[in-house]
Amino acid sequence: MTEPALDALLHESRRFEPPADLAAEANAKADMYDEAGRDRLAFWERQAADLTWSAKWSKVLEWEPPFSKWFIGGTLNGCVNAVDRHVEAGLGDRVAYYWISDGDTERRTITYADLLREVSKAANGLASLGVKAGDRVTIYMPMIPETVVTILACARLGAPHNVVFCGFSSDSLSGRINDSDSHVVVTTDGQFRRGAPTPVKPAVDEALQKTPGIEKVLVVRRTGAEVDWTEGRDHWWHDVVEPASDSHEAEAFDSEHPLFMMYTSGTTAKPKGILHTTGGYLTQVAFTHRVVFDLKPERDIYWCAADIGWITGHSYIVYGPLINGATSVMYEGTPHPADKDRWWKLIADLKVSILYTAPTTIRTLMKWGAEELAPHDLSSLRVLGSVGEPINPEAWMWYRENVGGGRTPVVDTWWQTETGAIMISPLPGVTATKPGAAMTALPGISAEVVDNEGKPVGNGGGGFLVLTEPWPSMLRGIWGDDERYKETYWSRFPDVYFAGDGAKKDEDGDIWLLGRIDDVMNVSGHRISTTEVEHALVGHPSVAEAAVVGATDAMTGQAIVAFVTPRGSVAEDVSSGEEFVQSLRDHVAKEIGPIAKPRQVLVTPELPKTRSGKIMRRLLRDIAENRELGDVTTLLDPTVTDAIRERMAGGDTKEE
Ligand code: WT7
Repeated sequence: MTEPALDALLHESRRFEPPADLAAEANAKADMYDEAGRDRLAFWERQAADLTWSAKWSKVLEWEPPFSKWFIGGTLNGCVNAVDRHVEAGLGDRVAYYWISDGDTERRTITYADLLREVSKAANGLASLGVKAGDRVTIYMPMIPETVVTILACARLGAPHNVVFCGFSSDSLSGRINDSDSHVVVTTDGQFRRGAPTPVKPAVDEALQKTPGIEKVLVVRRTGAEVDWTEGRDHWWHDVVEPASDSHEAEAFDSEHPLFMMYTSGTTAKPKGILHTTGGYLTQVAFTHRVVFDLKPERDIYWCAADIGWITGHSYIVYGPLINGATSVMYEGTPHPADKDRWWKLIADLKVSILYTAPTTIRTLMKWGAEELAPHDLSSLRVLGSVGEPINPEAWMWYRENVGGGRTPVVDTWWQTETGAIMISPLPGVTATKPGAAMTALPGISAEVVDNEGKPVGNGGGGFLVLTEPWPSMLRGIWGDDERYKETYWSRFPDVYFAGDGAKKDEDGDIWLLGRIDDVMNVSGHRISTTEVEHALVGHPSVAEAAVVGATDAMTGQAIVAFVTPRGSVAEDVSSGEEFVQSLRDHVAKEIGPIAKPRQVLVTPELPKTRSGKIMRRLLRDIAENRELGDVTTLLDPTVTDAIRERMAGGDTKEE
């Protein structure tokens, strides 16, 4: 973001007071901040008490930086909290999910009682394949109810789940299976994407050639596609789960029992397995879901439009809403230019009252225009949420004015895979919001913006976002790599969690997130490491060297721009051709997944380097963003930049 743009942001004078009717009965209360400030641990204990525990904890927190344990000695079962307890409370007939297929060609209504039966069968089915407490189970599935059922069945068995986003490549999948040391994978034959069936199992079959540990594959039939079958290893869901008993006794696990892991990109080529445990995670996702979205389970229809393959789906499609007994919409599809008003139709039809999505989606819907909304009655909406990247004030205002009819609070929620739950956000009914600001740390959460020395900046200052006290849903580590955990998050400033985001405090002391300050890109709310993409590119036989930067993009927030020098053996007429560029883009998609496909690949005979041989990324970013170049006197070969610039102007670019 340029300084003038940022300045304009920080002097934002628009304020949106909470609507009086909402404020009158809001779940969040202004005095929660004081309450938590007076005794943070007692505050979290009260939130934890909303869960159903088999044994109560004896101690709230054990903090040996950077390792925390919460609700020590307590025991509980995540699935029982999400499902059984509602059925036992007589709410079995309440709808847990309205599932809508891609393009709304098929619908399924799943009550809490249905979910209990399905989850019990799946737990019995997985157990019959040998899954027991502590075993990791990798889940590679699209947005179908069986995915939720599988996640909950794992929680029920105490088997940490490792969900891998279904758009990741077979290589990404095998890496995550091996690192997590899973013995079982659950998947589907295929999935529906933009109206058409696409295969899923072939990626698993390919991944499994490199995963010696996998013993069993459980396959849900979704598209009916022909699949290769390995006898003894592969089992159909309808053979294993359907006939299984629908009664399953759940065991209570320790509060610190691992609930799941989720791989996310860091600054190296190897994704990190972020580990979450049970009691603290469930406490904070349930609390935040209740107060940040003002959930009234008996009357709200809540729709989080994320994919279950990301942390947002785990915390706010599965665990948070279910623990709170919410009725959710689960939509298999994504916004699609041939189906521009699908979202508005669904909201009107299902009377959705809370919508949670990402800025990139809001910008897409905005581009398609308010006229797509006009024919649909969106008056059921009362809270709108945003997550995944900084939301620009234009998108924020459009969201509030057009989607929310100028009535609804917009909550811009900052958090990460690592934090497990929302950390910084306005509270509907309490906070007067500013377009584009995440505002303040939630009650019980301690966030700060610090300078290079780790000292808090004053109002009007900028620096690094840190979290200064442990929180219940914090990651418990990186799977199998304590050193990397310490190094990544706790080494920049002593005993303070370093989030990797830049932030500013405005004159009122409210927090504005400014994006990553490390080698992590944020493309459409998805976290992608520059190193990972570079690694994929240099793995291509024709590539000698590669440098990747994230360039500001009006739609996707950031876009991946790659600078590549071909190997000497590649003839110039080949390397300068469109086909070569296309093959490199496809190569990255194949290695990592389509989300990592560079928007542009610039082929250049040299990369700009400093005298000590470091690639000048700042310069590449300037080029990628078409900015005037700053000081380039340290450049080893200043002509390199000109060559790259010419290439760029020559239009070696490609947009999807
Ligand atoms: C990174 C975490 C949290 C679930 C989705 C992404 C960026 C997230 C916001 C926001 C500005 C945001 C940060 C963060 N981010 N929410 N409201 N405003 N930036 O989870 O993949 O772990 O990515 O997403 O850069 O560090 P993730």
